[in-house]
Amino acid sequence: MARINENFLKLKAGYLFPEIGRRVSEFTDNNAEAATKIIKCGIGDVTEPLPEAVREAMHKAVDELGNHDTFRGYGPEQGYDFLREAVVANAYEGLGINADDIFISDGSKCDTGNVLDIFGPGNKIAVTDPVYPVYVDTNVMIGNTGEGDASGRYEGLVYLACTAENDFVPAIPEEKVDLIYLCYPNNPTGASATRAQLEAWVAYAKENDAIILYDAAYEAFIQEDDVPRSIFEIEGALECAMEFRSFSKNGGFTGVRCGYIAIPSQLKGTTESGEEVSIKQLWSRRTSTKFNGASYPVQRGAEAIFSDAGKAQVAALVEHYMSNATLLREACTEIGLQVFGGVNAPYVWVACPEGIDSWGMFDKMLQEAQVVITPGSGFGAAGEGYFRISAFNSRANVEEVCKRLKAVFG
Ligand code: MLT
Repeated sequence: MARINENFLKLKAGYLFPEIGRRVSEFTDNNAEAATKIIKCGIGDVTEPLPEAVREAMHKAVDELGNHDTFRGYGPEQGYDFLREAVVANAYEGLGINADDIFISDGSKCDTGNVLDIFGPGNKIAVTDPVYPVYVDTNVMIGNTGEGDASGRYEGLVYLACTAENDFVPAIPEEKVDLIYLCYPNNPTGASATRAQLEAWVAYAKENDAIILYDAAYEAFIQEDDVPRSIFEIEGALECAMEFRSFSKNGGFTGVRCGYIAIPSQLKGTTESGEEVSIKQLWSRRTSTKFNGASYPVQRGAEAIFSDAGKAQVAALVEHYMSNATLLREACTEIGLQVFGGVNAPYVWVACPEGIDSWGMFDKMLQEAQVVITPGSGFGAAGEGYFRISAFNSRANVEEVCKRLKAVFG
């Protein structure tokens, strides 16, 4: 019989969102009428239609593919130059990132998981707690951890606690680690990191020859002028960081799929014998072998996000979701809950009412309000006692959620 990768057997329960889906289906099966009222504020999935500029560009690209003269087959695995150049001009101007540092992909979830292909065994890996579960589970799958404990923590990982006391930005570890996952604006806590905090992380990474895997998927939602949008705004980051970005949440591409990684030429890893190797070259090699590029119409659609019309339409989407976040923050505050996030990120992170744990809150909200939220403990042990409300929804749904919150807890 074929042998399996036994690391998969270490994984705890299901991936968080399928597990939520399973519980919602169970509720639906047993409560047909109440189930018709369910409003989903669990997974951060966009609800508003694709911007017009994107749709137009995609239609045009499809027409090109329907014509002999303009038809294209395989594209460059790393992405078309038109999109790589648009990314640099719009996201990284003046930050020392070049078009050939950009690797276009089918999204950040895949990228943050796949990136482990190019890192060897034996790295000490730090994750925040709570954390986007993909970082942890992909490390488990590839064999970078030991067994998990009852709270969902895996032996071998270094967990950096993100708490209300540290504004959900972890303290610099005392020990040396090799890879650090940071995500700001943060999923799930909705916190943002200050320039000084990121400077401290870059200084640590340089001092310890570590690499920061910086997930900036929610950059477009930053509202405050002094919040850094990219790790590369921090001096020295070109030598110690790579950045993941996505079109999912700003451009509404959760179903369309497109994202990218920026990997500066200066970023190096090492062989066991101490020889320095370019991370960008390894990733390029990996990409050529395992990926045939995001589709042409999708990349044209992504490019259109950077057009004048696209920027205005994305700004309107961001405004819509962030106004939702404000309403959710206000409703939770009004019923006396302690609220975090939702200022520079589309997630509102809320302390559970006294005496209710995260999954207890999930059940209460589902059963009494027919609202699906995400239990904080699903993002890690330090998420216990919190729940996350996603602001990705229609205005009518968000207003209804606010009403129901007040009815249940007011
Ligand atoms: C979330 O809800 O945490 C996100 O939608 C997950 C993702 O982007 O993969």
